[in-house]
Amino acid sequence: MSEATPLLDPDVSTMASWLDGRFEGGDGALASLAREVMLAEVGPNVHLRGLLEFSNRCRCDCFYCGIRRSNRSERDFTLTEDEIASVARHCLASGFGSMTLQSGERRDDAFVSFVERMIRRIKAETVTHDLPNGLGITLCVGEQSRETFARFFEAGAHRYLLRIETSDPDLFARLHPPKQSYDARVRALVDIKEIGYQLGTGVMIGIPGQDAGALARDVKFFRDIDADMIGMGPYIEADGTAAVEMNRRRLLPAGTAHERLRRSLRMIGVTRIALRDVNIAATTALQALSPTGREAGLAFGANVMMPIVTPGGMRRAYQLYDGKPCIDEEAEACTRCTARRVAFIGRPLSRNRWGDAPHAVGRDALRSRQPRSGRPAREVGV
Ligand code: 5AD
Repeated sequence: MSEATPLLDPDVSTMASWLDGRFEGGDGALASLAREVMLAEVGPNVHLRGLLEFSNRCRCDCFYCGIRRSNRSERDFTLTEDEIASVARHCLASGFGSMTLQSGERRDDAFVSFVERMIRRIKAETVTHDLPNGLGITLCVGEQSRETFARFFEAGAHRYLLRIETSDPDLFARLHPPKQSYDARVRALVDIKEIGYQLGTGVMIGIPGQDAGALARDVKFFRDIDADMIGMGPYIEADGTAAVEMNRRRLLPAGTAHERLRRSLRMIGVTRIALRDVNIAATTALQALSPTGREAGLAFGANVMMPIVTPGGMRRAYQLYDGKPCIDEEAEACTRCTARRVAFIGRPLSRNRWGDAPHAVGRDALRSRQPRSGRPAREVGV
């Protein structure tokens, strides 16, 4: 691969044509090129992050989301500190070097202090020989003030996920109530990056009115905001008041499940080729539309999977969209199943290390995967 190849530095219109299925040689060739870039830039390993959905309480009212505020019910839950700590131990014992703490968005003092305390506790309780700085912690708890982002970072979280959902301001405005502004979302992303987090963002694919050009501009947005991690998935019907709003506002997903899945996979491939050395997740939503959707994501250049480690009893109450898989499983089953899926497609699985993107920590991360400990990587295939 030479740097001069235009294929490796696609502009927006080229990316849009690829997203429309016009990559020369077809989607198989697009996936091959994406995998080639992946191998050269981040290596073959798949990194696992245990995904803990620790509370479904949310102050936001995103029209498409199953846990929006106006869907609140008696099923509201927030795990206790001890429950969260026990899930962190499961992640550690399973060899995940990192976990993701996700919840609905809240900004009250009680919530902010709770999250801060949890980060400190997990960090303190997960120090091992292999992980001298404890589990890597990724936060996904919505838009917060700059001060709050800084507090969480200080407590030890080093990555933050906050999707832009769509980089088109008009489309963003159609999907969200006026109180949730596009500008505030972008401001939050800039704050996260400036504070020093590894920044993750992403979009939903298949929103009505979102054409290939809009998706190509999303990829450009990822590059312009200097994202280190990308998580994307198909846009899916949701239950309850979200279903009502989606209907009423003509926001039902555009295209068949098959078309949305195809487009999501092409987005992963195009993002890999355009951004190169970032981490890209094969998300749960891909599997909601196809039983092997996440494996397909890996085949298009994704290198992160996030097995759900939320206790079984809570999963039903955290259904962001219909058909979310694994809601009747327990953490152990998801962990085993994920390892099997990765083994099946012949990719090595990382164990006991953070698995940061070279984009965030520099090229030498490929050789020495634990930059803050100085210990050499241990590659363990399954
Ligand atoms: N379809 C697909 N993804 C959704 N999310 C929320 N609701 C839906 C839906 N109906 C995604 C959003 C959010 C992430 C946590 O879940 O992109 O950022």
